[in-house]
Formats: sequence, structure tokens, C-alpha cells
Amino acid sequence: MPATWILVGASRGIGLEFTRQLLARGDQVIAAVRNEKTANELWKLAASQTRPASCLIEQCDVTKEASIDEFADRIGAWVKQGLRIDNIVLNAGVLKYPNRATEVSFADFALHLHTNTIGPIVCARKLLDLVPDRPPAKVIFISSDSGSTAAFREHEDGFGAYAASKAALNQMLRHMAAELKRKKGGSSSSSSSSSSWADVCVLALHPGEVQTDMANIDLDWEVEGIISPEESVRGLLQVIASKSKADSGTFWSIRAQVKLLNSKAAAAVDKLADYEDEVRYLRLQVQQQQKSSLTADEEAQRQLREQAEASLHASQSELEELTSQLFGEANEMVAHERQERAKLELRVKMLEERDRRKVESLDRLEARVKRVERVRALVGQ
Ligand SMILES: NC(=O)c1ccc[n+]([C@@H]2O[C@H](COP(=O)([O-])OP(=O)(O)OC[C@H]3O[C@@H](n4cnc5c(N)ncnc54)[C@H](OP(=O)(O)O)[C@@H]3O)[C@@H](O)[C@H]2O)c1
Repeated sequence: MPATWILVGASRGIGLEFTRQLLARGDQVIAAVRNEKTANELWKLAASQTRPASCLIEQCDVTKEASIDEFADRIGAWVKQGLRIDNIVLNAGVLKYPNRATEVSFADFALHLHTNTIGPIVCARKLLDLVPDRPPAKVIFISSDSGSTAAFREHEDGFGAYAASKAALNQMLRHMAAELKRKKGGSSSSSSSSSSWADVCVLALHPGEVQTDMANIDLDWEVEGIISPEESVRGLLQVIASKSKADSGTFWSIRAQVKLLNSKAAAAVDKLADYEDEVRYLRLQVQQQQKSSLTADEEAQRQLREQAEASLHASQSELEELTSQLFGEANEMVAHERQERAKLELRVKMLEERDRRKVESLDRLEARVKRVERVRALVGQ
């Protein structure tokens, strides 16, 4: 479902590009400008939209309380008719260069504070008042790293009032985030809106060093890493999408995020290269291991084959020896048997001969007995 954004300071530079990218992705934008008559590019952009009421242009000068009130009243009327505010972006800003602390006029310091600090904070506050039952998901302040107290930019000569106004903005929005966390109520049935004030995510974003009218000044130092409004807003939208209520009250720099992403990408590329090296090395090791295990296998097979051949050879010669020994023994046995048999046959023959002779002598004796008996019989008669 398309989200509805209120964008304050949409006539030029980052604000105009913000509007363009939000519309391009199908969201609805209520684009507020200081002077409707001079916001030509925004009018052209709105006219080129095919979706009805996707880009509504409103007037709001953040340095004038009455202008902020009237703007809030008009938005309030739409809210009463059912307009849902999903996100608010306070982009309006001014840099009147130079604005050194040692030189700055009361008016110039006030201009920076009114435009960059008081106006955006009060405008946000009044818009939040319009939706007590349906708080927006995100309130985004386009700040600057010039306002960072943690990373003071000493070399930024001529940026005193500007830096002070952004530092004050950062500090004030942190309080806003903390107060909303403590604020009771704000429950809603809408799924895309925050359900309570504690769910609202308030962020300060540094858009990078962006090639806009504001950056079109002669500086004594070199500004590194200048990016286009298109690149800046693409990064801003990514950062906004990545943050949640847990990040409320924090400051994020696109440059730092891009640097972080770049260093992450570089680290990932390095890691990938390391992995590829490791994979190559492991592959080589595996190949070598396969090779050496192959030759080890071959060597083991050769030894086994030799052992088998040797034991076969030994068995064969043992068998041959055994065979000849058996044959010798068998021959001996056969020869011995033959001799024994011959001896036996001879003895049998001798016994038969003796037997025969005994039978003959017995026959002769019987014949003699018979003759004697005949003689006796003759004598006895
Ligand atoms: N460009 C950078 O490198 C850079 C770096 C850090 C932070 N930032 C911040 O980014 C934001 C946008 O800057 P930019 O580079 O796009 O600057 P820019 O091109 O000068 O645009 C400034 C925008 O703010 C609007 N604005 C100024 N005073 C206003 C007021 N009283 N009420 C309502 N709108 C007012 C301007 O409207 P008009 O057309 O009516 O003047 C314009 O739309 C600013 O807050 C700036 O501080 C920019």
C-alpha cells in the first residue's frame, strides 16, 4: 500500500529529489515549499504525475510561526477527512556562508537557528499534534555532520552558525524521541502506522556532501566524495527503511553508511577471494592426496601380487617335491610288494611241493599197509 509522506522544503535540491523518488515508487507526497510561486520544478513534477493527488503542493515557511500554523491547519483538515500521515521529513535548511562565530550577525545566526532548528522542530511538533490517535511511523530531520559534537569538524571555516543550528537540531530531536517514548497513548488500528507514540522513530540524517545550490560555494578546503541528489536520496531512503523505533533519537550519516557498506562490500570481496584461494588449495590437496593414495594403493597391490606369486611358487615347488617323494615311496612300496609276493609264491610252491610229496609218501604207506594187511590175512588163514 502506498505510504503518505509530508515533506517540508521540497522546492529544490535534496527535497525536490526526495519528492521525485517517492512519487516514482508510488507513494503520495504532500510537498511543502516556502514560496509556491518560485517552486517551478516541483510544479512540473506534480503536473507530470498520472495518479490523482499523488503530489499535493502546500506552502510553509518554517521561519514563520503563522505559516507553520496555517500549514498544520490545512493538513489537519485533511486528517479529519481521513488522511493518514505515515512519515514526515523536515528537509528545509539554509546555509548563509560564511557564518563564523567571530563575525556572525544577530540576524544571520537567528536565520540559521530559525530555519535549521526552531522551524523544523516546531513544524514537526505541530504535525504530530494533528494525529494523536495515529502517530506516523517515522519523523526524519535532514541534519548535517557539521552539527556533530562527537566528530567536531574544526576545518569547516565559516560554518559556525550553521553547525550550531544543526547541533541544536540534533539535540532537540533526541529530546523529541525520548519524550515520545515516554508519551502515553496513540494506539491505532492502522497496520501501516505506528500503534503508539513509543513506536515513532525519530531520526537525524546527514545526506552526504550533495551537489545542490547549498553546496555551490567556494571553500578553502577540498570537499571529498561529493554525490548527486539522486544518489543521496537513494541512500537516505535505504537508511530510513532500515531503521525502526529502537533507533529513535539517533544520527546517521549517509557518507558513513556508504563507507560502512563499501567497507563491508570490500571485506566481503576479500573474504570471497580468501575462500576461493582456500578452495583452490583444498582442491589441490585433495588431488595430491588422491594421487598419493593411488600410488600407495598401486604399491600395496604390487607387493601383494609379489607375495601371492612367491607363495604360489613355493606351494608349487613344495607340491612337486611332495609328488616326486610320493612317487618314490610308491615305487619302493610296489617293488617291495613285488619281492614279498615273489617270496610268498615261492614258499607256496615249496609247501605245495612238500604237500604233494607227503601225499605221495602217504599213498605209498597206505599201499604198503594194504600189502601188509593182505599178507597178514594170507598168513592168518
Ligand atoms: N547539500 C549538502 O551537501 C548538504 C549537506 C548536509 C546537510 N544538508 C542539508 O540538507 C537539506 C537540504 O539541503 P539542499 O542541499 O537541498 O539545499 P538547497 O538546495 O539550498 O535547498 C534548501 C531547501 O530548503 C528550503 N528552505 C529554505 N528555507 C526555508 C524556509 N524558511 N521554509 C521552508 N523551506 C525553506 C528551500 O526552499 P526555497 O527554494 O524556497 O529556498 C529549498 O527547498 C538542508 O537541511 C541542508 O542543511 C545538505
